[in-house]
Amino acid sequence: MSDFASRLITWQKIHGRHDLPWQNTADPYAIWVSEIMLQQTQVTAVIGYYSKFMQRFPDIATLANASQEDVLQHWSGLGYYSRARNLHHAAMHIIDSHHGLFPQDFDTIQTLPGIGRSTAAAIASFAFNQVQTILDGNVKRVLARHFLVEGWPSTTKVEKQLWQLAEQLLPKVDMVAYTQGLMDLGATICSRRKPKCSDCPLINTCAAYQQHRVDTLPTAKPRKAIPEKHTTMLILLHGDEVMLEKRPPTGIWGGLWSFPETEAKLDFDAVVLNQFDITALASKPLPALTHTFTHFKLHIQPQPLHVLKRPPNSCEPRLMWLNVEDAIGAAIATPIRKILQSLLKT
Ligand code: ADE
Ligand code: SF4
Repeated sequence: MSDFASRLITWQKIHGRHDLPWQNTADPYAIWVSEIMLQQTQVTAVIGYYSKFMQRFPDIATLANASQEDVLQHWSGLGYYSRARNLHHAAMHIIDSHHGLFPQDFDTIQTLPGIGRSTAAAIASFAFNQVQTILDGNVKRVLARHFLVEGWPSTTKVEKQLWQLAEQLLPKVDMVAYTQGLMDLGATICSRRKPKCSDCPLINTCAAYQQHRVDTLPTAKPRKAIPEKHTTMLILLHGDEVMLEKRPPTGIWGGLWSFPETEAKLDFDAVVLNQFDITALASKPLPALTHTFTHFKLHIQPQPLHVLKRPPNSCEPRLMWLNVEDAIGAAIATPIRKILQSLLKT
């Protein structure tokens, strides 16, 4: 076994994390759900969502049989909603094409929507004790530092180098402790800022530490200004009820409920009459808010409009009227929840 692996495994068993809700199980479904939630979200934010999700969808069949609405509602606030849509689609695919059993073959695991090479490796090692390496952002950082790998780790060339290193380091046994050790070291010791090198089991062989390069590795992503977009959200109100519109199935917040949007800067009541055939009176705009996505920044101007006569609910399933508190519990994104909460205060 590589020295790297044996020291990491010994360290994990003593100092690593052992009581996270998705540990101490070999159920591939429970592990899969956790790995998807943890792809873009920190452990502390995931824990509460994870237990509620597993209570509502305890197994693949329950998830496959649920509506997308129900799945998105349990993801509401976690962000990166394509993860939830993919998870749901993959569950249906496993029922249809794998007899309802999570596949064990590494290449087959990677064909499931939402599962890339690193996530497949995490599932394969945790659930099936397979010798496969993960390489997420945390692991890239550890390897780039330990082996002094220069260049932004997400370029094809550097990434290929890191995959090769990661594969060479793999132990043949103790894959659960090894994989968890990589994750734990990256999260708790070899953190992006102020790593705790003096507590690190790899300090004796770490090239970045020896050459005082810890602060400059991994090489940062070349900075590009991200585009900014502006939108006005139309908050149609009638008494204590508000109108939500279902977003198209793909793209930002796909399948989630939101407010209708317009680029118009004036005459919002005319826009509403035009689009929805509803007569409404605009009132003072609510405070603007900004939401940052991976690829752009969205400036949202919420514009309340008071509707004179509320249309019945069933005529257009894309639109839904419900009271503000129920709307807060629907499948919505975080900025929408913030706007709804600000309505309760006024
Ligand atoms: N990040 C990704 N997978 C994880 C896991 N299983 N435990 C802790 N953090 C993680
Ligand atoms: Fe990371 Fe420091 Fe350990 Fe090197 S010695 S792997 S930089 S924590």
